[in-house]
Amino acid sequence: MNNLEYTLNEAREDFDQCKSLTDLDQVKAKYLGKSGVLTEALKSLGKLSQEDKPKVGATINLVKQGVEEALEKRREAILNASQAIQLEEESLDVTLPSRKEDRGSLHPVTQTLHRVESLFYSMGFSVANGPQIESDFYNFTALNIPELHPARAMHDTFYIDESHVLRTHTSPVQIRHLEKNKPPLKIISPGRVYRVDSDATHSPMFHQVEGLWVDQQVSFANLKGIIENFLQTFFDNNDLKVRFRPSYFPFTEPSAEIDMSWKGGWLEIGGCGMVHPEVFKHVGIDANQYQGFAFGLGIERLTMLRYGIQDLRHFFNNDLRFLQQFI
Ligand code: DAH
Repeated sequence: MNNLEYTLNEAREDFDQCKSLTDLDQVKAKYLGKSGVLTEALKSLGKLSQEDKPKVGATINLVKQGVEEALEKRREAILNASQAIQLEEESLDVTLPSRKEDRGSLHPVTQTLHRVESLFYSMGFSVANGPQIESDFYNFTALNIPELHPARAMHDTFYIDESHVLRTHTSPVQIRHLEKNKPPLKIISPGRVYRVDSDATHSPMFHQVEGLWVDQQVSFANLKGIIENFLQTFFDNNDLKVRFRPSYFPFTEPSAEIDMSWKGGWLEIGGCGMVHPEVFKHVGIDANQYQGFAFGLGIERLTMLRYGIQDLRHFFNNDLRFLQQFI
């Protein structure tokens, strides 16, 4: 009988040591299993005298009850503890600030386009636009680049079909504007242009800004003044020098390449010239009455110089670390 009471205490201690349900099953087997301590005790009741049997039997049952209670108590404690751990692990702090979204910025090319537009706007130019899919006539013929003219081959053109191209320059907007408007007129036309070309310094899509001023007395001197003024203001540098190097474009005569002083040397930044009489003829303007000048500048080039960007490909990689430098 003493042993039995001792067994109950021992079982309670054993259960208290249990950390998991598996531990619990083992201890349960030790006392209540097929050959557990209490099961054995019940089996051995038969050996007792008729007198002792009920007393001992009742005690065994009490102890068994006590063991079962201890088992249940511990099982609950273990389940509660694991639930508490799970709650802890899965808890969600709704007051935490959310992760910040990565922000981009206006693309540096876009910033340059805005700057170019506002500077020319302040010199009296308005903005004209044209389609990026252009007919052969506007992209070439009306600009005095007839079929079989070698200048056509120079442009590495993307053809859409026999008579349509992705415009290779912004110059066709000159024609579209001159067709619909009477001089005097002063416009710039910024936008995308396309050529079959791709490496560290060429992209198949890039941006130009076209300029056109047509009036009764517009001279090459005006052209030089406008370009110089624009470049000095764009680069915030009144000492910047501009050089006009004789060149050839089919749609201007005379024509020049625009160079600007840069780090002790010269850098080509665009082309320009006086509008060719053939171009005026295509749009029905009397070349004896009107003159004009035109120019074309590369936007990527202006952007790279202004921000010190070394590789053209940065513009098209969509890397936020690059874009975030221009906020
Ligand atoms: N369209 C020329 C090009 O893409 C650039 C250009 C040169 C535009 C001279 C002009 C100009 O308006 O007068 O290379």
